[in-house]
Amino acid sequence: ARAQIGVTGLAVMGSNIARNFARHGHTVALHNRSVAKTDALLAEHGDDGDFVRTETIEEFVAALQKPRRVLIMVKAGDPTDAVIEELAGAMEPGDIIIDGGNALYTDTIRREASLRERGLHFVGAGISGGEEGALNGPSIMPGGPKESYEALGPLLESIAAQVDGTPCCTHIGPDGSGHFVKMVHNGIEYADMQLIGEAYHLFRDALGYDAERIADVFTEWNAGDLESYLVEITAEVLRQKDAKTGTPLVDVIVDAAEQKGTGRWTVKSALDLGVPVTGIAEAVFARALSGSRDQRAAARGLASGTLGDKPTDAAQFTEDIRRALYASKVVAYAQGFDQIAAGSAEYGWNVTRADLATIWRGGCIIRAQFLNRIKEAYDADPELPSLILAPYFREAIESGIDSWRRVVATATMLGIPVPGFASSLSYYDGLRAERLPAALTQGQRDFFGAHTYERVDSPGKFHTLWSGDRSEVVA
Ligand code: 6PG
Repeated sequence: ARAQIGVTGLAVMGSNIARNFARHGHTVALHNRSVAKTDALLAEHGDDGDFVRTETIEEFVAALQKPRRVLIMVKAGDPTDAVIEELAGAMEPGDIIIDGGNALYTDTIRREASLRERGLHFVGAGISGGEEGALNGPSIMPGGPKESYEALGPLLESIAAQVDGTPCCTHIGPDGSGHFVKMVHNGIEYADMQLIGEAYHLFRDALGYDAERIADVFTEWNAGDLESYLVEITAEVLRQKDAKTGTPLVDVIVDAAEQKGTGRWTVKSALDLGVPVTGIAEAVFARALSGSRDQRAAARGLASGTLGDKPTDAAQFTEDIRRALYASKVVAYAQGFDQIAAGSAEYGWNVTRADLATIWRGGCIIRAQFLNRIKEAYDADPELPSLILAPYFREAIESGIDSWRRVVATATMLGIPVPGFASSLSYYDGLRAERLPAALTQGQRDFFGAHTYERVDSPGKFHTLWSGDRSEVVA
């Protein structure tokens, strides 16, 4: 046995990760349900490094040095369970199975527990960066037994993206923690994309810019505080011309956004944890609305009411949008990091948020300059109550708040939907409010259901005898 790592599931992500390992000098055992994929990889990229071709699971497992390390790169759900079962039957105590797919973290918790009983280590690793990242350096979020990270960590760190000499890979915590943080990463990715989309919409419909001109704005933004992978590729997508019509490609793509599930999972989990991830939720719902094509067709003629005037100072409005985007983005990340803290507390994972910010600086889809500031914020105060309270972000929001309000107000007056910008601003205003209308909600709840309330001036729970003499009693 001579392979340091085995990869099973050789679709694009699996192939590229296998090649990445090989290019870093590791001997890689290859396995795929149909051998044709294995052979295609070897024929095209066999000279990337040292590969071991295998056909059966037994051969595959026998090709691996101990403790055996196998990375599964198959579809999340049942296919993953099927491969785990096959592998587990052929492996020995102390061996390590790594699931690199976008698995639901509760599945990972279940799988880890059941494999632990059989003496095997199971590592649920979130891997971000798409096809390109898989080949040239992804961000890797492995969760699972700490002991297994000793045998596995160096291998994963060697193929991860590196920022300032630090690998974008670190042990996240036990069982489902790696897949949980990857899920929230994707939720933030949804929010980020939605906010960029709203900025684009405003340029298009409030300022009347064409795609090329909007691309120029994003390119310029990418040289400042907003520097990030998503802003960079936004400019590229907007600049792309359609070969068939010669118009910008974005103008011939159907405006119905799809999703595979991780954003939705983030929101479901946030609902269970009671964390208001409003930015992420609006992003998920905005995709759903865009995809409601029949309803949208039926609603197309609905009245807008009297609309306001378009902005006359394009330069000022552009700067307003930039600041609104930045502030809303801070809110989305703040909410995502809150959810990670809540998940970590719920499951006892001890996730270090500064570590996450560190490994998200490179390789992943949400990589951005910005993550350096988040890392600094959590380094300075690991218990920070909210990212928006970190001095740097507080300053950025406070200096952009007028712009943020102008953008939301202008969009509203022009009938341009900005659920991301608007809900983030409402979240901000809600968080900083002196008195929320929740007092009334509590009164209503007590009225119809005797659900009780607390008082601002004495401890304990109280109830008003609403259908009686309306005196107050201690509940
Ligand atoms: C990543 C991406 C990746 C995938 C998304 C797409 O981090 O590399 O997030 O995991 O591209 O899951 O998600 P949707 O299809 O739901 O947009």
